[in-house]
Amino acid sequence: MGAQPPYHWHGLSKCNLSQRLRKLVDYTNLTDTDIRLLQQSSTPKILQLSDQLIENNIGSFPLPLGIAPHFHIDGHYYTVPMAIEETSVIAAASHAAKWLQQSPGTASQGIITRCTGKNIIGQILISRVKRADQLAKCITAQKKTWIMKCHQQVIPNLVKRGGGIEDLVLRLIRRPDGDTMAVIHVLLNPVDAMGANLVSQVCEYLKMPIERDSGEQLVTGIVSNLNDQKLTHARVAIDDVDTKLAETIVELSLFAQLDPYRAATNNKGVMNGIDALLIATGNDWRSVEAAVHAYSCQDGQYRPITHWYLEGNQLIGELTAPIIVGTVGGVTRLHPIAQLSLRLLDITHAEQLSRIAAAVGLVQNLGAMIALASGGITKGHMQLHISNIIAQLDTNLTEQEKQRLKTALQHYLEQHGHISLSVAQTILMQL
Ligand code: MEV
Repeated sequence: MGAQPPYHWHGLSKCNLSQRLRKLVDYTNLTDTDIRLLQQSSTPKILQLSDQLIENNIGSFPLPLGIAPHFHIDGHYYTVPMAIEETSVIAAASHAAKWLQQSPGTASQGIITRCTGKNIIGQILISRVKRADQLAKCITAQKKTWIMKCHQQVIPNLVKRGGGIEDLVLRLIRRPDGDTMAVIHVLLNPVDAMGANLVSQVCEYLKMPIERDSGEQLVTGIVSNLNDQKLTHARVAIDDVDTKLAETIVELSLFAQLDPYRAATNNKGVMNGIDALLIATGNDWRSVEAAVHAYSCQDGQYRPITHWYLEGNQLIGELTAPIIVGTVGGVTRLHPIAQLSLRLLDITHAEQLSRIAAAVGLVQNLGAMIALASGGITKGHMQLHISNIIAQLDTNLTEQEKQRLKTALQHYLEQHGHISLSVAQTILMQL
C-alpha cells in the first residue's frame, strides 16, 4: 500500500529471483526473515521450475500432499495422491473408499468407470456472419483441405500420436440486434494431452484459410471449457446398505437435484476430491471446475453431477462430468511431484486419470452423504480440527501436554458439539 505509484516495480519481470527478493525488502514491509522463508518455501529444483512457470515468481506456496488408499476402480486398487489444505477431505475420501471396498455388497469390480467421446472443443468466432448458408457450404467443401494443412503444419506430432482434428461444426447464434453470430467448433482429439493450448493454436491457424475461402471476417479462436463431447462416468452399486442410511442418501441426492442451493454444495464436495487429485498431478483444475459448473447448468438449472438412487435393495451412485485432463505436457510433465503422483497411481494415459478422478469425486460425495446422514459433518470436521487448533496455539507444549489438551478438547466437543481456538485457550489455561 502507498500513496505514490509503485515505480520501483518497473522492469520486475526482467529481474532474476534474487533481485526480485531484494526489491521486496527494499520496497515493502517484508524483512530478511520473510525472504529466508520464501527461499526455503520449496526445494531449489521446484523454485527454479516456479521461476520458469510464472512471471514475477518469488517462491512457492506448498500445499499438503496426502494419499487416499482403498480405491477399488474397474477391478484395480489405487492409492490416490491428493494435494489439499482442507482438513477432512482426504479422511472422508479414504474412509468412504474403505467402506465401499470392505462392504460385501459392493460390486466385485468396485467402482466402474468409462469415458464417452474423445474430442475437446475449440471455438472460432464470426461476430456477424454475412451469408450463413454460403459459410456452411464452404466449410463442407473445404474442411478436409484445411484440416490436412493444419495437421501437417501445426500438429504433426499429435497426428503421429493418433490425435488431430476430427471435424469442424458450424453453430449459429441469434444476436440481440437480430443479426447472426457464427461459431465454428473445432473438434480435436488431444490423446493424452489436456489440449487447451493445442486446440487454441489450431483455431488461430485455421482463422486465416477460413477467412480467405469464405470471405467472412473472423474475430478470434480459443478453447471452450464447456466440453460436452468428452464425458467421464463413474458408477457404484452397493447391496444391502442399512435401509435408513440408503434412504437418507437418496433423499439428499433428490434435495441436490431439486435445489440449486444444495446442488452447489454437493458439487463443491465432489470437486474437493477431484481438484485435490488434479493439483497433485499438475492438471489445470480451474478448467475442470469451469467445465463441471457449466455442464451442471445445461438444462437451465444448476444440478448435481452425482445421482444416488435405489434399485431393489441396491444403492446406486453415479457421476457424469466433463473431466478433461492430461498426462503429458505442461506442469504434469515438468513438476517432479506431478510425475511422482502419476507413478504412484501407476498410470500413463489421460483417460485413466480422468476415470480415477470421476471415481474419486463419486466416493468423496458418498463420504459427505454418509456424514450428513449420520448427524452432520461438523463433528467429523471438528475432530480433525482439534489438531489444527492445537498447532495454532502460540505456545511450546510438550507432546504429553498436547495429548492432555487433545483429550480435554475431545471431551468438550462431545459435550458441546463445537470447538474453537478461544475454547482451546481457555481449556489450556485451566490445565
Ligand atoms: C465441505 O467442503 C464439502 C461438503 O459440504 C459437501 C457436501 O455437503 O456434500 C461436506
